[in-house]
Amino acid sequence: MTSLAELIPAARSVVGPTPCGFVFGPDTALWGAAGTDSTQRWLRATLGAALGLPLPPGQEGAENTLTLRLDDTLDPEGYRLKVTTGWGVEITGGGPAGVFWGAQSLRQLLGPDAFRRAPVAPDVQYGVRHQTVEDAPRFRWRGLMLDVARHFMTKDGVLRYLDLMAAHKLNVFHFHLTDDQGWRVEIKRYPRLTEVGSWRARTKFGHGASPLWEEKPHGGFYTQDDIREIVAYAAERHITVVPEIDVPGHSQAAIAAYPELGITDVIDTTSLTVWDSWGISLNVLAPTDNTLRFYEGVFEELLELFPSEFIHIGGDECAKEQWRESSFVQARIEELGLADEDELQSWFIGHFDKWLSARGRRLIGWDEILEGGLAEGAAVSSWRGYAAGIAAARAGHDVVMCPEQQVYLDYRQDAGADEPVPIAYVRTLEDVYRFEPVPPELTPEEAAHVLGAQANVWTEVMEDQGRVDYQTFPRLAAFAEVAWSALPAPAERDFADFERRMALHYERLDALGVGYRPPTGPLPWQQRPGVLGRPIEGTPPNR
Ligand code: ACM
Repeated sequence: MTSLAELIPAARSVVGPTPCGFVFGPDTALWGAAGTDSTQRWLRATLGAALGLPLPPGQEGAENTLTLRLDDTLDPEGYRLKVTTGWGVEITGGGPAGVFWGAQSLRQLLGPDAFRRAPVAPDVQYGVRHQTVEDAPRFRWRGLMLDVARHFMTKDGVLRYLDLMAAHKLNVFHFHLTDDQGWRVEIKRYPRLTEVGSWRARTKFGHGASPLWEEKPHGGFYTQDDIREIVAYAAERHITVVPEIDVPGHSQAAIAAYPELGITDVIDTTSLTVWDSWGISLNVLAPTDNTLRFYEGVFEELLELFPSEFIHIGGDECAKEQWRESSFVQARIEELGLADEDELQSWFIGHFDKWLSARGRRLIGWDEILEGGLAEGAAVSSWRGYAAGIAAARAGHDVVMCPEQQVYLDYRQDAGADEPVPIAYVRTLEDVYRFEPVPPELTPEEAAHVLGAQANVWTEVMEDQGRVDYQTFPRLAAFAEVAWSALPAPAERDFADFERRMALHYERLDALGVGYRPPTGPLPWQQRPGVLGRPIEGTPPNR
């Protein structure tokens, strides 16, 4: 039995625990009110399987029962977890999501074995101490962005990440599906997007100036059935999947598949391939009616697959060189009465903002979409720092705070020479723990536009799941506490207490099979010198 004070993310309030507790057994029943079905399924399939508990269907009010209830006076994602000796455990959620988050806390209280796939040994008994937890999230957007374009992650790998998110009470999965280096979602009316756009011939290793190459094809994509499975799996875990199709920059894979999407009077787009290097490709979309219709077609299929209110359209790092050189782009700027290429980018984004709004959805994009004016209702992922997020909130736009200086988890987490492929600057576990999503200069009204925060996992230097685990954990646990718990101001946060709780959390992560970075530094296999066993380059400049 562990104490409630061991929860990560930390709960709002805990009364108890007392020395006595409730012990689960084969007869412990599960009863849930209508509306709690997803948590009942999860409890049997995950918690029950881990601990060898069948959790047979029970009756309301019976002894020796795990009871799930709803109480709409609580926060929709909040919950109360009450452990009563003899009677059992009662989880009351403000809504179905609250019940689910309460079940995640129960799992933590039952100890690390509750995070295994199967019982560690027969006849081990698991209990929870007599106590009451009251809890609710600070933010409604507690996000993780995963870049599956630079390195593909299989569907099963994505489902595993959804489980890891759920275990940390994160609820928005930002799915970065397209980039210069790969297109990862099947679009039925444009088969070449995946036939051509989902494979690249080779891959650059690291961000260094003298590149090494992995000379083998890399690729993969999700069929529409895969996507439906991912979205449904997420929904069972009260996670929303926000898809990102990055336009008008970061589009070389799409142009390689359909050369007419590019700036055909500046370069021969028929000779373009899916990009094999990192950085910002100069090959961007042509702002033509043909391109708009093409992407409307993409988004039409996407809206059928993703029920999310928000659809991410990227909008970051659109190189303007080809737009400046192209006579048809310059003619378009004149025809539309625009001042320059920045206004053209704004016009392009504005088109999809209106298009999505007309279909009952909301556009979200990287903070460059603020340049040249942003349509009402659109939201911003503030990644280049806080400034754009502050400007957006002051202009009445909703904001997701994900500044690269704090929560880009591809950045190295230690200065040591043994960090694998060490890019950018050091951001330690403590740095992430002291990340504050709401800048102090915002008024309360402006701060209300901060929907929440997001950790971003870009995968240029993460060629497999082990590397993604290493970069993401343990920092995602610190991020989850920032996004969920009502922490004090950064300087007042009790990092020593967080580290103390992490000691147990590492055992949970071990049981889940997560290849996190240990506090003492990378293990020998994690220090491996890179994809092909070649030496690490010197620390490259920032990405
Ligand atoms: C970004 O990092 N280009 C959003």
